[in-house]
Amino acid sequence: MGGRANGRRAWWEDGMSEIVRVSDLTKAYQGGVTGALNGISLAIEAGEFTAIMGPSGSGKSTLLNLIAGLDRPTGGSVTVAGTDLGRLGESGLARFRRDHIGFVFQFFHLLPNLTALENVLIPAQLKSTTSAEAAGRKLLEQLGIKEMADRYPAKLSGGQQQRVAIARALINNPALLLADEPTGALDTASGEQVMSLLAELHRQGQTIVLVTHDAKLATRHAARVVSIVDGRVVDDARLETTERAAADVIRVRSEEMTR
Ligand SMILES: Nc1ncnc2c1ncn2[C@@H]1O[C@H](COP(=O)(O)OP(=O)(O)OP(=O)(O)O)[C@@H](O)[C@H]1O
Ligand SMILES: [Mg+2]
Repeated sequence: MGGRANGRRAWWEDGMSEIVRVSDLTKAYQGGVTGALNGISLAIEAGEFTAIMGPSGSGKSTLLNLIAGLDRPTGGSVTVAGTDLGRLGESGLARFRRDHIGFVFQFFHLLPNLTALENVLIPAQLKSTTSAEAAGRKLLEQLGIKEMADRYPAKLSGGQQQRVAIARALINNPALLLADEPTGALDTASGEQVMSLLAELHRQGQTIVLVTHDAKLATRHAARVVSIVDGRVVDDARLETTERAAADVIRVRSEEMTR
């Protein structure tokens, strides 16, 4: 990789690499009375574990979907791993998602007619990776469900299904792991387990953006909490320790809101 003619360095050449930049992002849905996002600007460094919090309808999923390139903004821009998503056409965007983004949903979204392993391999099979199956089994092992590889989703608990979904999100080694309420459909113990797995992935260097309602989970595991209300960022707190009490962030946020 030689020097660049314009003297600028690509994102991966920088020591402090910025993996996401969202600039003045707006989203108005058809028929929406107010905008779902009303000018959000945010930068996320590689390796950060960021939680996005806010009340129902505040725009958290909308923001995550735009960062994932699952939807298009009304205004502003999203740059992920140095690529301005607005410059990509539909097929370019699909390829970009496959290669760089892992997405975990609240309700798992596993295909019922495929086994756990086959579900994990869905994104890999779009690429011709011969060692995909071995990689898939290894991921399931790392996530503690090796012995579930050949079971169908209906025979798995919610927590196990979510771990399969996380393995599927990770199979292509994404630069960015996005999770929208990944514990929202789980009992407390399974939710804790999934959060611990995300925290472990973060310790291994994975950049994660997590949407959650749960201040306790967010503050226990994430190092940064971005709070959104009515499609605007109202607080962006880097927590000094991940052990900081949830009450602190809630207090900061309510101070912001009553200003
Ligand atoms: N596809 C859609 N069409 C029209 N309006 C939408 C659509 N998706 C979301 N909205 C609206 O946009 C706003 C933000 O929704 P969004 O789903 O991003 O909120 P959220 O913070 O994720 O909420 P929740 O915590 O309930 O998941 C809401 O007012 C919602 O009703
Ligand atoms: Mg949502």
